[in-house]
Amino acid sequence: MRLRKKWWARPEMAADDKAIIEPFDKKGTWHEIFGNDHPIHLELGCGKGQFIATLAKKNPHINYIAIDLKDEVLVFVLRKINELGLTNVRLIPMFIERVDEVFAEGEIEKIYINFCNPWPKASHNKRRLTHPRFLTKYKGFIKPHTEVWFKTDDDELFEASLSYFEEEGFQETYRTFDLGASGFTENIQTEYEEKFSSFGVKIKFGIFSWKGDA
Ligand SMILES: C[S@@+](CC[C@H](N)C(=O)[O-])C[C@H]1O[C@@H](n2cnc3c(N)ncnc32)[C@H](O)[C@@H]1O
Repeated sequence: MRLRKKWWARPEMAADDKAIIEPFDKKGTWHEIFGNDHPIHLELGCGKGQFIATLAKKNPHINYIAIDLKDEVLVFVLRKINELGLTNVRLIPMFIERVDEVFAEGEIEKIYINFCNPWPKASHNKRRLTHPRFLTKYKGFIKPHTEVWFKTDDDELFEASLSYFEEEGFQETYRTFDLGASGFTENIQTEYEEKFSSFGVKIKFGIFSWKGDA
């Protein structure tokens, strides 16, 4: 997603307490930030935010945190959630590589990963958000029985991810190689998903549950 740098994006976000510009001292305090004990669900790489905004509107009793490295997209997510009057969303501009520094053990109860970069070169595979390197980080802050919902247009990434989840002790509870034809009723389309689907690309989707350390 190439967007021109917008100098005003960071100041606009900094002026709104729904954008958390300094997340590294918030570990363990996220329920206080939301002001309630509702479960907290996380989206990694939210892009323009259609998914998180739709989900948060549908589920007012769940708190959502969306992470993306680009202020240029997050500022539009912020505007979207404000237009909808949503108080159950927080946005964090940061590299997902540091996500384990932001959440405490058991703080997150669901993770969504939608159309992350497939990093096809073997030497880059470890940058995939489903790679064991990342799954290990997530296990440090998810509650037992947390589900990771993962979807992608990329066959090779999906196949490899099935192995990554298994290697890291996640149980596969749902899998389809054609989400559109699957009859799965809870799907919310993302911007990338709409684009790929309009080209006739089949969307691969799985749910992987972590039972917790024995
Ligand atoms: C391909 S887009 C998908 C966006 C959205 N999930 C969708 O399905 O429409 C991937 C998004 O992840 C973000 N991203 C990629 N790598 C990231 C990283 N390491 N840390 C934070 N954000 C990242 C990008 O900025 C981009 O907005």
